[in-house]
Amino acid sequence: MSAGLVNAIYLGAAILFILALSGLSSNENARRGNLYGMLGMGLAIIATVFSDAVTSYWVILVCMAAGSVLGIVLARRVRMTQMPQLVALLHSLVGLAAVSVGYATYLDPELHFSGAEKTIHDIEVYLGIYIGAMTFSGSVIAFGKLSAMITSRPVLLPARHLINLIMLIIVIIYAVIFINAPTLSDAYTPLIIMTIIALIFGVHMVIAIGGADMPVVISMLNSYSGWAAAATGFMLANDLLIVTGALVGSSGAILSYIMCRAMNRNFFSVISGGFGTSKKASSSSSAIVGESVATSVEEVAMFLSSAKKVMIVPGYGMAMAQAQRAVSDVSRILMGKGVNVIFGIHPVAGRMPGHMNVLLAEAKVPYDVVFEMDEVNDDFPNVDVTLVIGANDTVNPAALDDPGSPISGMPVLEVWKSKMTVVLKRSMATGYAGVDNPLFYKENTRMLFGDAKTNMDELVKALS
Ligand code: TAP
Repeated sequence: MSAGLVNAIYLGAAILFILALSGLSSNENARRGNLYGMLGMGLAIIATVFSDAVTSYWVILVCMAAGSVLGIVLARRVRMTQMPQLVALLHSLVGLAAVSVGYATYLDPELHFSGAEKTIHDIEVYLGIYIGAMTFSGSVIAFGKLSAMITSRPVLLPARHLINLIMLIIVIIYAVIFINAPTLSDAYTPLIIMTIIALIFGVHMVIAIGGADMPVVISMLNSYSGWAAAATGFMLANDLLIVTGALVGSSGAILSYIMCRAMNRNFFSVISGGFGTSKKASSSSSAIVGESVATSVEEVAMFLSSAKKVMIVPGYGMAMAQAQRAVSDVSRILMGKGVNVIFGIHPVAGRMPGHMNVLLAEAKVPYDVVFEMDEVNDDFPNVDVTLVIGANDTVNPAALDDPGSPISGMPVLEVWKSKMTVVLKRSMATGYAGVDNPLFYKENTRMLFGDAKTNMDELVKALS
């Protein structure tokens, strides 16, 4: 395939990737966005495989076959709740690829640069390997934390900021030595030392970040993997890789920022780690008053049947229980009885962005009854019954009332303002942030204890 045709296909693929991102910004267009992304990636692979740069096909075929089998098995086996750790693992591969390409390009005997061109190429290699190694080790630790193989609590070394600073200074000094190295063998030592430091830096950065902040870390590593891919694109002079890397890098950074804002967390304090230690241990500073009141499925069915307006607020527990289909059935039955049913979604409900939206879409809940938090928060006084299904932190009034709470300042769904709130969960246990929830003790709150799916299935029977 001629270089001109390859570039034309790359341009088409880049446009498809941009269309994919814009499609993914809304539920209605997400499926189309995914199709654009798949088409773009298919074109990019075909153009690359048939470009003049490829001289032997069997290695590529074997790798593609192995990758495809692995991808299909993962896609079939991995549960929705395991997606964050899978994404972390996939990011680690992008990092590893950037490191491998960096070393391979540097050692390529056919590449000869001199003067400014050599300096630029060396910087590309050094940066690509640095970002790639950091992404690789950071993602492996994130995978370990999310899959509970290592502790999800922040592991904080004494003087950790100083350690990071010293590592950064060493990396900069070795960058100068590497770029000015007179021979290839003189350049190995700084390159290898920098790679080891970058690997340690990735581990140190992620291990210091605690449970509730991990999803932000995932999107941050997503961003890093994008920049690693862009750096690889520069090394290989591949325009599509540069564009794609930049798209992934910037969208990951924007996502991290949006998540931090939704949790009222400062991005730099998330990255510097430590959430879940001191503040979490103190929990809520104001004592919780009142007693929780348990209810039964029959009673909830009665409340719902006599309601005019019902709001359903799902959270991580709905995903854990896989209760979305039963929830969808309950909403459909109520709508059939003339009840106005809507869904209120917190931006960080669950464990990843759009987690609840994906589950509800899968359970065929119509998009037009699913609303974002800002769209429904003023509506609660008009709601007769709010069903909170496995949500906890995202409906915690302490976020607004208790300045000492670790989640203080986080915007939450103000469910307690509705006439009655029914909370479905298994116990009085805290949510992901480890904070007690005064909602459970309010006069107009009823607790429906048990697995959310079992209770929703029972509710379907009671209502029908
Ligand atoms: P959480 O606060 O994590 O609470 C989930 C609740 O579900 C738990 O209290 C648990 O109580 C209940 N639960 C678990 N399994 C259940 C089951 N089988 N049946 C019924 N209930 C079950 O959930 P949330 O309100 O969705 O909040 C999300 C948290 O993740 C927030 O702290 C948020 O900041 C954090 N976070 C999310 C994101 C994104 S992007 N989504 C990003 C960063 C951080 P029991 O154990 O008593 O059942």
